Amino acid sequence: MEQLKNKIALITGGNSGIGYATAKEFISQGAKVIITGRRKEAIEKAAQEIGAIAFVADQANLQHTDLLRNEVENQFGKVDILFINAGIMGTLELIENQTAENYDNVMNINVRGAYFTLSKLIPLLNDGASVVMLSSNTAIMHSPNSSIYQASKAALNSIAKTAAAELAPRRIRVNLVSPGPIKTDIIAKSGFNEATVKSIKDHLVNEAIPLKKMGEPEDVAKLVRYLCEESANYITGAEIIIDGGMTL
Ligand SMILES: NC(=O)c1ccc[n+]([C@@H]2O[C@H](COP(=O)([O-])OP(=O)(O)OC[C@H]3O[C@@H](n4cnc5c(N)ncnc54)[C@H](OP(=O)(O)O)[C@@H]3O)[C@@H](O)[C@H]2O)c1
Repeated sequence: MEQLKNKIALITGGNSGIGYATAKEFISQGAKVIITGRRKEAIEKAAQEIGAIAFVADQANLQHTDLLRNEVENQFGKVDILFINAGIMGTLELIENQTAENYDNVMNINVRGAYFTLSKLIPLLNDGASVVMLSSNTAIMHSPNSSIYQASKAALNSIAKTAAAELAPRRIRVNLVSPGPIKTDIIAKSGFNEATVKSIKDHLVNEAIPLKKMGEPEDVAKLVRYLCEESANYITGAEIIIDGGMTL
């Protein structure tokens, strides 16, 4: 049976990785899905592949978020599922070597953009809607070189839990999904060369992850889907870690 039949779902950052896999999963369960991305060609191609609706919007640009909000309201009126997924890792460096440019870039997308996507979409959420924010297991880790990314996800954890408290009177549930290493392009997009990406992945699989494998985007998609279903009606303000045991 289709668990999300006729639900309207909005996913930010849907042209690859976890957002794309989740859009596919939602559609398989009967939802109508809008996916966003910065690159017109990439987002339109992805939408066409899976039968989603594409909207070009940079999560860091609040004017784009206003346009997205207006478009969703005009086309669908209300939203049942909001999956705030778009995010970047940025440049990994020790704190002493970090730049304000990288700080602003990561924080503007991962925190400010995520925050105002939530803020501006709340009025469109149906009572009983489900919001999921894509955090990271690194939100509770303190590994060298990842201070900005880790802080951005820790901020998201705080925001999502406050939102869960604020929206509970409308039966809107807000939860966090915190993956460990998942097979997407996010590490490569941080500017490492192929050899470095391979050595990072080898280290993770052989030494850092007890289950000795990286997760698949579909593993995360199924968890997000569960949180958006009626079966998860008593779960709110939760942070669910899906990381092969990495944070044990
Ligand atoms: N993969 C992992 O190991 C892992 C682990 C923990 C958490 N996460 C989190 O999972 C989320 C999804 O990442 P992913 O691993 O699936 O990587 P991904 O394949 O790079 O997907 C990220 C998606 O977000 C989009 N995006 C990035 N910045 C955006 C912006 N400013 N506005 C709109 N869309 C934007 C990307 O589009 P472009 O292609 O144009 O960049 C892409 O569609 C991120 O929040 C990430 O921090 C990932």
